[in-house]
Amino acid sequence: MGNPEARADLREGAWQAAHARSLAEPEAFWGEAAAAIDWHKPWTRVLDDSNPPFYRWFAGAELNTCYNAVDRHVAGGRGEQPAIIHDSPVTGSVTSITYAELQGRVARLAGALRELGVDKGDRVIVYMPMVPEAAIAMLACARIGAVHSVVFGGFSARELATRIDDAKPKVIVAGSCGIEPNRVVPYKPLLDDAIAQAAHKPERCVIFQREQLPADLIPGRDLDWAQIAAAAEPADCVPVAATDPLYILYTSGTTGQPKGVVRDNGGHAVAMTWSMRHVYGVEPGEVFWSASDVGWVVGHSYIVYAPLLHGCTTVLYEGKPVGTPDAGAFWRVIEQHKVAVLFTAPTAFRAIKRDDPHAEHLGRYDTSTLRALFLAGERCDPNTLDWAGEILGVPVVDHWWQTETGWAIAANCLGLEQLPIKSGSPTKPVPGYDVQVLGDDGLPVAAGSIGRIMIKLPLPPGCLPTLWGNDERYRASYLSAEPGFYLSGDAGFLDDDGYVFVMSRIDDIINVAGHRLSTGGMEAVLASHPDVAECAVIGVADPLKGELPLGLVVIKCDVDRAEAEIAAELVAKVREEIGPVAAFKSVLVVPRLPKTRSGKILRGTMKHIAEGTDYRMPATIDDPAILEEIQGTLAAAGYGASD
Ligand code: COA
Ligand code: AMP
Repeated sequence: MGNPEARADLREGAWQAAHARSLAEPEAFWGEAAAAIDWHKPWTRVLDDSNPPFYRWFAGAELNTCYNAVDRHVAGGRGEQPAIIHDSPVTGSVTSITYAELQGRVARLAGALRELGVDKGDRVIVYMPMVPEAAIAMLACARIGAVHSVVFGGFSARELATRIDDAKPKVIVAGSCGIEPNRVVPYKPLLDDAIAQAAHKPERCVIFQREQLPADLIPGRDLDWAQIAAAAEPADCVPVAATDPLYILYTSGTTGQPKGVVRDNGGHAVAMTWSMRHVYGVEPGEVFWSASDVGWVVGHSYIVYAPLLHGCTTVLYEGKPVGTPDAGAFWRVIEQHKVAVLFTAPTAFRAIKRDDPHAEHLGRYDTSTLRALFLAGERCDPNTLDWAGEILGVPVVDHWWQTETGWAIAANCLGLEQLPIKSGSPTKPVPGYDVQVLGDDGLPVAAGSIGRIMIKLPLPPGCLPTLWGNDERYRASYLSAEPGFYLSGDAGFLDDDGYVFVMSRIDDIINVAGHRLSTGGMEAVLASHPDVAECAVIGVADPLKGELPLGLVVIKCDVDRAEAEIAAELVAKVREEIGPVAAFKSVLVVPRLPKTRSGKILRGTMKHIAEGTDYRMPATIDDPAILEEIQGTLAAAGYGASD
């Protein structure tokens, strides 16, 4: 173990004790955890439960998240420690930014934003590739109390426009381009297109020019990041209420309209910091690497905020697990930067295993600094978990969480006590989370029985207090299924030992390479094609990406065009309107879609057929012959062969 001192408090029963206390005495538990944060003003209540089902943590307190993530580490002697290591195989560069440098760069951008009129509570959209400037922009917003909303680079202009209209940013900070292994992605035309599509117009755009593809700036609207930051007066940290929003992060809902998950400042800072030590078992000064993207919640929490709040060095990796240049990329980064803990999605390990099944690249590197691998973002298949454990020889922890919670709901908390690993389970509920599995009658189901996984309110600090500007949607989407519970949207079970098993979603969300996507959103795009009469999109199991979307479309009877031509247009349309990240590449034209007698399309049954898994003929089916027809079409296209 790399840091025995850090692990001296590990003891048997620690998880049980911490979990029980967090539920029995949440105010005492989180009040103590909050001592790890510097507050401008203490709270009046640790948990404000005066307005259920809305709960607020650390009401009355004031702090600044950027101060806690950057300035106090400089003041505390970490100024010369690397804060961010940008490792970018796609540009062939590795750069390191110390905490002291980070403080200066964040303060100058914060000053520049303020000079543009950005004030406390104003929104700033950040549309950036995996460069340190993405984290700098986020922290600069936090520094002046502005609310950032980062949009993932793999989304289309239309998705960006939707977020612009919901968040109504005063300013957008964007990179000129992103770099994928096979192409340079020009961000600026996407940004211009999004602003043209949006009803809300930002006052200014700040463009970070990358040498790989500098962008043309629109006079009067666009400003060059480097120029304005150089000219700006550095801004100091502004105290904000613990309950003020730090950021909005949009995530797929069941409709095409994404949900704006709100994160507060106080609860978030406490939960992030607590999780670094107790979930991940990491100490300040160590190197933490989350191989994700700042556009996702994993990137927000574990590339940017948690490692920095905890005084770690974070690795910001602009590359892929394979192909940049090979399946040894992860091992090279671990060796080069002495990574203590790696966090990524199972799909990354499936990609490595596919390219290097015997992990031969691993032999070229010294990965002895690595103490643990954490996986999340999608269900982790036991094969991948076992393979990763075998080749690395460290604990592999599957942990379960979602954009809404911002940190793990269930995990093997290595910083408390390493519980036995059960493949297929993200272990036990993390302290703070009262996880229950309820049946349709609203009562807990027996151990081993599948039901809706719910969390008893209040959610712990760090979880969403609401959706941006939409308390009603928050209530309707998450809190109305059962009074007093948060609906996770996942189905699964608890076993006899209290281990959580997350099996599937109960809505139309699918998980493609660890990316959360709405099939409803894709259906809306297909349905808007003039030749499409009706359609369904289902997620079909894929050995690399976990799931891949498959479109089944019925063409209008008066259309006389080649099916392949229409299918190609539909693929292009989803890429154009949602983005390449949807990985929507397969469309089958079918004569009819199977439905229930009340007209509901039997997506679940078609998924079973496409995956070659057992299914029962739904009792409510309108016409069983249609299902046979679909089976034939899917089989002809190569679907349904079970392995
Ligand atoms: N900007 C622009 N385009 C992007 C992008 C970005 N930030 N991220 C992905 N894309 C594009 C890809 O280039 C690809 O385009 P293509 O259709 O032209 O090939 C498409 O979106 C799909 O991307 P992805 O699903 O990531 O597939 P991939 O083939 O590029 O890579 C993996 C597959 C498994 C290697 C990759 O998904 C991966 O590294 N996953 C790690 C897990 C992860 O990051 N999870 C996030 C949550 S933890
Ligand atoms: P996101 O909001 O993008 O993080 O996606 C969250 C969803 O991904 C969850 O609701 C689950 O459906 C799925 N998910 C994340 N982690 C896991 C895991 N460890 N096991 C099973 N499903 C997971």
